[in-house]
Amino acid sequence: MKYQALKGMMDILPDQVWKWQFVESVSRNIFNRFNFQEIRTPILESLPLFQRSIGEETDIVQKEMFQFKDRGDRDVVMRPEVTASVVRAFVEHQLKDGKLYYIGASFRAERPQAGRFRQFHQVGAELIGGKNPEDDVLLLKVLTALLAGLGLRRYQLKINSVGCQTTCRPEYRKVLKEYLKQKHAHLCENCQRRIETNIIRIFDCKVEGCQKAIEGAPRVLDHLCKPCEEHFAKVKELLDHEKDIPYQIEPRIVRGLDYYNRTVFEVSHDALGAQNAVGGGGRYDTLVGELGGSKDIGACGFACGMERLLMALDSEEGFKTEESAQRLRCGLIYLCVLGGNPELKTAARKIQGQLRGADFRVEELAAEDKPLKKHLEIANRLHALFVLILGEDEFREGTVSVKDMNSGTQEKIKLDAIETYLKGRLVSR
Ligand code: HAM
Repeated sequence: MKYQALKGMMDILPDQVWKWQFVESVSRNIFNRFNFQEIRTPILESLPLFQRSIGEETDIVQKEMFQFKDRGDRDVVMRPEVTASVVRAFVEHQLKDGKLYYIGASFRAERPQAGRFRQFHQVGAELIGGKNPEDDVLLLKVLTALLAGLGLRRYQLKINSVGCQTTCRPEYRKVLKEYLKQKHAHLCENCQRRIETNIIRIFDCKVEGCQKAIEGAPRVLDHLCKPCEEHFAKVKELLDHEKDIPYQIEPRIVRGLDYYNRTVFEVSHDALGAQNAVGGGGRYDTLVGELGGSKDIGACGFACGMERLLMALDSEEGFKTEESAQRLRCGLIYLCVLGGNPELKTAARKIQGQLRGADFRVEELAAEDKPLKKHLEIANRLHALFVLILGEDEFREGTVSVKDMNSGTQEKIKLDAIETYLKGRLVSR
């Protein structure tokens, strides 16, 4: 029996993990600048939470959730996204400050392909509190600051408004229904049913006939009520004042989750092919109320897929440089003793402890004696930056030889100066 990771679920191996740590640390830094606080919610949640928030008629709820009965016969779900969990936590704990961010795994049982996984990771932010257009723009500022901080340049930000659930959407549904009546025969069975249950979801359908049928369909952007139209106009006006938020209006964006109203947006990247959405989000003013909180509390948020961010970053110039910078920053030190004298080993262990105590990264001393050549081979494979050599001569002199693995140069350093020496060398790189 050969054990393998489940389909669509990836191991992130040690030689790749620095990229993830890079995205995580840049994200934390950017969120911190905007005074967003981290929240961590459980991966397992109750089924009704997502049925209620994402919507019964969505692909996610109908086909993509990992859901099962737990041992207590309760219906549970591995979260397909984080927004609903964050809002649940916000309401449950009566949080006062709704500027929240998260980094973590989500699960969707989709057919795996490039950029689409069953376990994937999102970095996202939710701004729970107001209904003002200023909040939409603040959120887009955070999103674009994050993308810039990561070094992503070749992305496109597309925004749209899907109006409100009370006035625009009932009106729009009527218009769309009228239009789709003539196309009824071309629609798949699912979409024929959706006309009655949740007509807007027809836009998510991947069946060719349905895609064709909706090509010329009326757009929700042309059917906004006055307050929604004003909200969108204000968002655009404020965005135009922000020099570094390049955006386009894209009336076809409806998003695949039901909780949105008014502003919605998506970020795409040319390196990604079919699954080109790096991130998405929008306003969801009714969700806090739906999940038991105050109906007056509006919210908006975004989430980026970390796998897709990394795929996009890999294609951007400069990211490779970041890789070498990361390696250098790690600055591994490989310490070795030459000859079989046990006193040397004891002395080397002391140096090892001292350097670790001073925050250096030090490979564990080899248990067996080896010739220098072997040690250097190992150090090379580990990408060590310096090899510290303690032989009989050095031991007698109270020194250690330091070999710079990049330049190949070697010099003897007094033991009591080794910390300062290595610090200086690491900083000067
Ligand atoms: P979403 O558009 O469903 O929105 O997902 C956000 C991002 O997660 C996508 O743009 C994509 O990069 C990534 N993603 C989604 N599914 C997969 C998958 N199967 N494999 C790899 N990456 C994937 C949401 O989840 C909303 N909660 C966003 C939001 C936050 N809206 C308001 N606040």
